[in-house]
Amino acid sequence: MAGPREKWNSRLGFIMATVGSAIGLGNIWRFPTAVGQSGGGVFLFIYLLIILIIGIPLMIGELTIGRRGQSNIVNVFKKIKPTRPWWLIGVLGVVTGLIILSFYSVIAGWSLSYIYKFSSGLFRTAEAAQAEEIFSSFVSHPWLPLFWQMLFIILTAAIVIKGIRRGIEKASTTLMPLMFILLFLLLFRSLTLEGAVTGLWWFLKPDLSAVNLGIILGALGQVFFSLSLGMGAIITYGSYLSRDDNIPESSFIISSLDLGIAVLAGLIIIPAVFAFDLEPGTGPPLIFITLPLVFAAIPAGDLFGALFFLLLSIAALTSAISILEVVVATFKDIFQQTRKKSSVIAAFLVFLLGVPSSLSMGILDDFLLLGFPFLEFVDFLSAIILLPLIGLLTALFLGWVWTPEKSLVEIEQHGVRFKLWKPWSVILKYILPLALAYILISGIAA
Ligand code: PHE
Repeated sequence: MAGPREKWNSRLGFIMATVGSAIGLGNIWRFPTAVGQSGGGVFLFIYLLIILIIGIPLMIGELTIGRRGQSNIVNVFKKIKPTRPWWLIGVLGVVTGLIILSFYSVIAGWSLSYIYKFSSGLFRTAEAAQAEEIFSSFVSHPWLPLFWQMLFIILTAAIVIKGIRRGIEKASTTLMPLMFILLFLLLFRSLTLEGAVTGLWWFLKPDLSAVNLGIILGALGQVFFSLSLGMGAIITYGSYLSRDDNIPESSFIISSLDLGIAVLAGLIIIPAVFAFDLEPGTGPPLIFITLPLVFAAIPAGDLFGALFFLLLSIAALTSAISILEVVVATFKDIFQQTRKKSSVIAAFLVFLLGVPSSLSMGILDDFLLLGFPFLEFVDFLSAIILLPLIGLLTALFLGWVWTPEKSLVEIEQHGVRFKLWKPWSVILKYILPLALAYILISGIAA
């Protein structure tokens, strides 16, 4: 390999890029959907607990592995522990990345197409039946959603081809602040709707008697998906990190911002759903069917709608970049190819894999796997099973193979101190593996 490894330009650039990876469809599409399906506030409560106990500790661990190994996610494990096949974690990560991006790009493509639909005034006077009709005739069209999906993949690959500094960091630092502004605008609009308060309470008030294993498993998958954990994205971004960065502090900042945006999205969507007397448990189409109604019923709805989906597409793009980057960084090193060629091959694979997901909303809607349409099956397989499974293996690697003592040496450089190292190592060695194994085994068996 030629030259030293690329590095982030600045700490802000790294944080923005990683926040950009974390914040995406997971926060704005998947989170409100999961809250709606699981009956409100209890989900948020469990979600918060899992972020604290599993999410942040694992993010610290993944960044540390990445910075230590200074390589793609297959080689980092080989470099840290050459003698055993822990690098298979990396292979699992690359495969999971391809699967996630395949359906992620389908939904991001819908989002792109909604910018166009709103701008052309399609939803201006939409009522429930009409919004549903517009959505379902679009997603069941044989090639139109594929076109938007392909467009999204091309945008993603174009940025990844430009490399770390010029592409990813630049895109994230300019796009993320724009997103924050747009979200606050929408928050104001949603909370001032009549009847929004009912939804607000429904979302925020935890009913602890409603806790069950399904909700815990759902929240766990959501934490992994939303924080980009278990897939190598955080490890890869950590590998471009410089030695004097404070990893624990960065992990805390990144996770808090991600949580903040998910809650913000919940605060925008759930109260609006109640204000318009819609069904919170609609599932994946929730924002695509109900939000147009919301926007149609408010002044300047076309503009708000187009802005919202622009925002969602931007957020999805910065996340998709991080997923593709994992695959590309690995392909590039392992197959000794240029960044460009690796990006094109990976993008092509993602598109092919995504075709059945896209078609599962139309021509292939009868084709079920374990009772799920293809798109929901791959979502379940990756978020609820593969990501936590890789997380479990990573925790075992950090806690028992590489050991927290060696992580500490990597973390505490250039005057950085990790005060919570003791509780962190207990969490990594015992709590995290046991909790993950328990939730995975009992959840999947149930
Ligand atoms: N975290 C991203 C989101 O919430 C999705 C993602 C998953 C990105 C896994 C990278 C790795 O949209």
